[in-house]
Amino acid sequence: MQVLGTIKGFRAARRDAAGPVGLVPTMGALHAGHLSLVRRARAACSTVALSIFVNPTQFGPGEDLARYPRPIERDLQLAEDAGVDLVFHPSAEEMYPPGFATFIEVGGPASRWEGEHRPGHFRGVATVVAKLLVITTPQQAFFGEKDFQQLTVVRRMAADLALPVEIIACPIVREADGLALSSRNVYLSPAERPHGAALYRALQEGRRRVAAGERQASTIRAAILAVLREAPGVRPEYVAIVEPQSLEPLERIEGPARALIAARLGSVRLIDNVSLADEGLL
Ligand code: PAJ
Repeated sequence: MQVLGTIKGFRAARRDAAGPVGLVPTMGALHAGHLSLVRRARAACSTVALSIFVNPTQFGPGEDLARYPRPIERDLQLAEDAGVDLVFHPSAEEMYPPGFATFIEVGGPASRWEGEHRPGHFRGVATVVAKLLVITTPQQAFFGEKDFQQLTVVRRMAADLALPVEIIACPIVREADGLALSSRNVYLSPAERPHGAALYRALQEGRRRVAAGERQASTIRAAILAVLREAPGVRPEYVAIVEPQSLEPLERIEGPARALIAARLGSVRLIDNVSLADEGLL
């Protein structure tokens, strides 16, 4: 496994790489969710590239950039064990040198939900993902459904800019109680941690309602909120029932639909989502 800290160095290593390249972009603090993306890439591509970069431009002023976990030695060991070939681990100065002034602004699916609650977040994500794709030139790039809106925004950007890359969606990896794995879960105190499972419980309640024949989005949304509100310390930011490509809210479930949640638990902001209407459910 080669670890490259510069764009020039990565490009040189990339030129020597065999066959199709798969990129897994991450901010590090790797867990089984990230590693599931690496496995998918490993199965599909002859060269697997992993980027580890805590991207400052996607964090808001009051957010956790300074305390975001950065266990780089551990990450490199996990990457090597998972069969990664190339790691791109640049400094902030390498990605954003003095004078940097170009950003990518995605409208449409970026405008609501996370876009409203984290102003500037998707501008930072789209910019860094576009730059990572230009540096690494993968045939495929792998993203988790955990960040469903991010996945949708990246797909939109790749289509709009005709980027020569296939965006591959990977399912959410969860703890035994349903809490979606996240690098931020380490901030949950032992007392808070059990209540983190409320998001998935609430989403499952939404799926149950749809499976039982409920089609009115407002009713399903209320059922999801009711489960969330039972959990001590969980403060919902939004619950949305949306069309999965536009992320526009739905009034009725008559085709593909996704339920999205953001909630605070203690000092931690958690997000999760499920499909409400996959095959056989409607
Ligand atoms: P990060 O939060 O490190 O996540 C990297 C990738 O892992 C994302 O595609 C995310 O959706 C996926 N992922 C995280 N937790 C997961 C889980 N429990 N199951 C499945 N996939 C999971 O997302 C980012 O970094 C950044 O915004 C990035 C795209 C790297 C741009 O900076």
